[in-house]
Amino acid sequence: MMPLWTRDEFAEAAGAMPCGGDVTGISIDSRTLNPGDAYFAIKGDVHDGHEFVSQALEKGASVAVVRHEYEGEGALLRVDEPLGALNALARAARARCKARVAAVTGSVGKTGTKEALRLALGAGGQVHVSEKSYNNQWGVPLSLARLPRDVDYAVFEIGMNHPGEITPLAVLVRPHVALITTVEPVHIGFFKSLEAIAGAKAEIFDGLEPGGTAVLNRDNAHFAYLEQQARAKGAGRILSFGVHEDARVRLKDAAMHEDDSCVAAKICDHDAIYKMGAPGRHMVLNSLGILAVVEALGADLALGALALANIRAPEGRGARTRLRVPGGEAVLIDESYNANPASMRAALSLLATTAKGTNARRIAVLGDMLELGDYAPVLHAELAASVLGAQVDVVFASGANMKLLWAKIPQALRGAYAAEASGLKQRLVDEIRGGDVVMIKGSLASCMGQLAEALKNRYPEAGTGKTYAPEKD
Ligand SMILES: Nc1ncnc2c1ncn2[C@@H]1O[C@H](COP(=O)(O)OP(=O)(O)OP(=O)(O)O)[C@@H](O)[C@H]1O
Ligand SMILES: [Mg+2]
Repeated sequence: MMPLWTRDEFAEAAGAMPCGGDVTGISIDSRTLNPGDAYFAIKGDVHDGHEFVSQALEKGASVAVVRHEYEGEGALLRVDEPLGALNALARAARARCKARVAAVTGSVGKTGTKEALRLALGAGGQVHVSEKSYNNQWGVPLSLARLPRDVDYAVFEIGMNHPGEITPLAVLVRPHVALITTVEPVHIGFFKSLEAIAGAKAEIFDGLEPGGTAVLNRDNAHFAYLEQQARAKGAGRILSFGVHEDARVRLKDAAMHEDDSCVAAKICDHDAIYKMGAPGRHMVLNSLGILAVVEALGADLALGALALANIRAPEGRGARTRLRVPGGEAVLIDESYNANPASMRAALSLLATTAKGTNARRIAVLGDMLELGDYAPVLHAELAASVLGAQVDVVFASGANMKLLWAKIPQALRGAYAAEASGLKQRLVDEIRGGDVVMIKGSLASCMGQLAEALKNRYPEAGTGKTYAPEKD
């Protein structure tokens, strides 16, 4: 089998003299590097990858791409700027591949959608998909440089925090199909308005292949604007999805269960009934966008829809654990990976649909949503309505902004407040009882993950045979 890049192909694409061996993978992190990978010494926010070149070579890197002035020995491919070389490699990878390519952006649901496409497209062909949330100026070229020469489909996540960031990434990816999941106030602290966010998302069409398809959320307030932008930037086809009666991929009905949903939809001219393996109405709506992409790529819709039954909510993004706690079992919904107003509302509505035991409680453990700038106070205070709507019985809150929500909720709902997430740990561990459902959510930097960890460390997972042992102290 051909390697990902032969030694000569790699050097030619990176614009340097050949060196080292064939390249079987691409790495920008020596800690996760596999033997045979080419290591790119990228300067990040904290570290300069040049500090780890010898470590990368010791771990078996086939070659390390470094700046000319780097002082060191070994299989070194010297270039002006390693990130520039990675971008060049990304362009070469895209140019040589015959795959049908999709790009996914949007305010929420990018990674979930991309992972669902891995399953849905993988059911009918070979597929390459970006890893994790590798969606920025490092992640996108890295994911492209890893694109094997012979896959049928490729899906790349593209993200942004500021205007202007998506255009160069979209131009690199050159998608045949570009999906915008939705436009919501996420990272709005870096923007003038919600319209400005919609404008930045529309940059994805700057890279759309001529005549390509724009897949757009028909229910979103910015649909008309995005449609117009897509057309102006050369889209040949608009494929809309949603509940709206004009949506080409339209939700007809959905039965929401605790662990999944059954969906009836009209996908262009086909009736489809399928199961979405991750629960929540937001996942049902995402599934419409996912199948729209499957259709637009020309992949097998029936196989794709069937595969959605196998979706699971990832760690920190809705993954559930049943814990053995005093008085029985409790359900932990871990949403601690990230939070913004849209995903907070989705998570609260998921909490509302999760059954609790008799005399038990729905407990919402909420940390600050970050990067909302001047909008932060009002967007936090506004959540009170969603908390009440979700029939939450107890709220635990931490962070300066969540204090504003705390002030808005009735006294009877107040469990505990602490400035830092760590201040809630003991209270939460002591509070939980059999039948309770606990949902933990906040932006990553709000460190809510430690609360999920604390519960998991204290109480064994149900069904593992371990029993709950009261602490002696
Ligand atoms: N359509 C949606 N509406 C509201 N919330 C959603 C929607 N889709 C997913 N979410 C929620 O948003 C959170 C983040 O999901 P996901 O990781 O897929 O988003 P992302 O756009 O990749 O985020 P990031 O910008 O961090 O990469 C999850 O908690 C998920 O449940
Ligand atoms: Mg993501």
